[in-house]
Amino acid sequence: MNLTLKIWRQKDGRSKGQMVSYKVSEISEHMSFLEMMDVLNEQLVNSGDEPVAFDHDCREGICGMCSMQINGEPHGPDRGVTTCQLHMRMFKDGDTITIEPFRAKAFPVIKDLVVDRTAFERIQHAGGFISVNTSGNTQDANAIPIDKHVADHAMDAATCIGCGACVAACKNASAMLFVGAKVSQYALLPQGQVEATERVLSMVAQMDKEGFGNCTNTGACEIECPKGISLENIARMNREYLKASLKG
Ligand code: SF4
Ligand code: FES
Repeated sequence: MNLTLKIWRQKDGRSKGQMVSYKVSEISEHMSFLEMMDVLNEQLVNSGDEPVAFDHDCREGICGMCSMQINGEPHGPDRGVTTCQLHMRMFKDGDTITIEPFRAKAFPVIKDLVVDRTAFERIQHAGGFISVNTSGNTQDANAIPIDKHVADHAMDAATCIGCGACVAACKNASAMLFVGAKVSQYALLPQGQVEATERVLSMVAQMDKEGFGNCTNTGACEIECPKGISLENIARMNREYLKASLKG
């Protein structure tokens, strides 16, 4: 395939960015989107130009690093995949593809397609954990019986990889699907009950502090989430928040 790529180039957080056009040729439909970006970068390096900066790590849908807005959609036109799992067979010869960073006030651009998503880490630090005695007396997790359906829901919530596509998809740049998933994975399990009140209050307070918008039930986050995190998690977080506020 021969393609035209319109890519957001921005030197750093202080500079003004712009879309720049590039041509790539002989792209195989079997390549992943990031492999196609590697071809472009090799071409740029060989011609003495600066390669396009983009985040990636595992390249198998696990780490959540590969954040790209492709043709206006986080992680591109396929469903249930991250950018690194997106195949070039989703495009056709002669296509023009626009590639931008995830856009949100809370995700400032660092360079080109790389954004700062440490806001998510600060939300996690605010309560996305359980405190466990690891002195050698730790209780065997299997000693606490948990209903299979409950365990499945908790596991589904825990599959969130923190990629930020939900924020990029939302017209309000809301992080409620992410925070909902992180609150839910503990709210559903007995191990999460001890710190439940403090957890939801702290995580929501940090989310607001970071400048994410509110949820208006548009549902774009659920559609674009590569891990299929359900809107039910936002509803559960809202219930947990109400319960905690009444207690507090
Ligand atoms: S909820 Fe989905 S889209 Fe949002 S950070 Fe988690 S995996 Fe990514
Ligand atoms: S590079 Fe790890 S999820 Fe894409």
